[in-house]
Amino acid sequence: MSKDTLSITDNRTGKNYEVPIEHGTIKALDLRQIKVAADDFGLMTYDPAFMNTASCQSRVTFIDGERGILNYRGYPIEQLAEKSTYLETAYLVLNGELPTRAQHEDWVHNVTYHTMIHENVKELMGAFRYDAHPMGMLVSTVGALSTFYPGAKDIHDPLARRHQVYRLIGKIPTLAAFAYRHSVGMPYAYPDNDLSYCGNFLNMMFRMTETKYKVNPVLERALEVLFILHADHEQNCSTSAMRGVGSSGVDPYSAAAAAIAALYGPLHGGANEQVLRMLREIGSKDKVPAFIREVKESGGDVRLMGFGHRVYKNYDPRAKIIKKMADEVFEVTGRNPLLEIALELERIALEDEYFLKRKLYPNVDFYSGLIYQAMKFPVDMFPVLFAIGRMSGWLAQWQEMIEDKDQKIARPRQVYLGAPRRDYVAVEKRMAREAALTVA
Ligand code: CMC
Repeated sequence: MSKDTLSITDNRTGKNYEVPIEHGTIKALDLRQIKVAADDFGLMTYDPAFMNTASCQSRVTFIDGERGILNYRGYPIEQLAEKSTYLETAYLVLNGELPTRAQHEDWVHNVTYHTMIHENVKELMGAFRYDAHPMGMLVSTVGALSTFYPGAKDIHDPLARRHQVYRLIGKIPTLAAFAYRHSVGMPYAYPDNDLSYCGNFLNMMFRMTETKYKVNPVLERALEVLFILHADHEQNCSTSAMRGVGSSGVDPYSAAAAAIAALYGPLHGGANEQVLRMLREIGSKDKVPAFIREVKESGGDVRLMGFGHRVYKNYDPRAKIIKKMADEVFEVTGRNPLLEIALELERIALEDEYFLKRKLYPNVDFYSGLIYQAMKFPVDMFPVLFAIGRMSGWLAQWQEMIEDKDQKIARPRQVYLGAPRRDYVAVEKRMAREAALTVA
């Protein structure tokens, strides 16, 4: 009869152990009983970068990386991208169910009425240099919000948490747009409550002198879809930062600032920006084969940005949706000339042994930048757009972590390989020793 257990024989001692298997995992702490001697610490696992370690149990997002499947709370990403709005999807990600009409109205109202930021935050933005990267500004201003809402420290009160959720989802587009306006020296455009979440963001970004900004419905919908696709992606680097920092009990603004910092990196959310820079550098379609050769010969130093994923070993389902949507956007904006280069890169890479063997396919960042650029977003705003969409996922995962009785402060172990205990040596003695060595 089969049993849900794992039998382990420790060949150092000849002892046998049986540990339970639950949900395809064993508990790392169950290995601690495996010891050579009574005063031995016990066996640990060594897993840098969490390649094969589940750090939590979650009900938010399901990914099957081999088959290219992504579901939020059970709903396929393709259906949400086609039928939902960003705020409806954010509600789903945060609450586990799609909202009723009344719940939806209440949610949209509350997010919309939390879009304003304190004038002092605006002044804080004024202190940044004109060419400050907007992600740096976002890390700072989101972190700074914690000083405006001391009640946010009450992380175990669900009502207080809900208020911070309204504020963070409501205010992040305002902070993002203000960071952009600062960089181009334009006066800030305040939120307009008559507009949708995405319409309002486009208004705050691009409104010039017109009394009422007219949002292009195709671009507004494209942004909705892009935010939906970025809403959550289970335990990625920034979400792990949100959970890890949040596990210390800090307020969600400080934890979200850490998540944004993690997202900023070129291997994570900063990749969409790097894709555009890479395409510009390649310059033309005929230079693609030479670039692919450079990637292959670099031994991993030069990467094809927007390709590869820790979890997906197949085409990223988000990239598929974005690629399809690009045509609709380009009909309004005109075709992005860099698209030719991107398509050629994809064509060659998907036929090349190097990429096939390593299962490297386009990820969400490969085509999103081309759409953002066609919509007139400057390149350094791309990771900021990612952060706006991902805020709902960060908060959902943070809430789940707080309510999870299994969770404690995140504190990994290490394997110490440094010097054994030794006694302090006075500087005179160290110099004398060095002098003796030099003479010798
Ligand atoms: N171009 C060329 N080679 C690559 C690439 C790439 N984009 N990605 C991975 N490889 C190679 C890598 O050199 C290694 O080769 P070898 O086995 O010969 O040493 C192999 O593939 C495995 O790569 P890895 O770095 O061990 O894989 P990982 O799971 O640690 O990294 C990744 C995943 C996303 C960081 C990586 O694929 C990468 O750097 N991609 C480019 C950056 C990028 O597009 N990031 C966005 C990720 S999706 C959205 C998000 O999370 O923000």
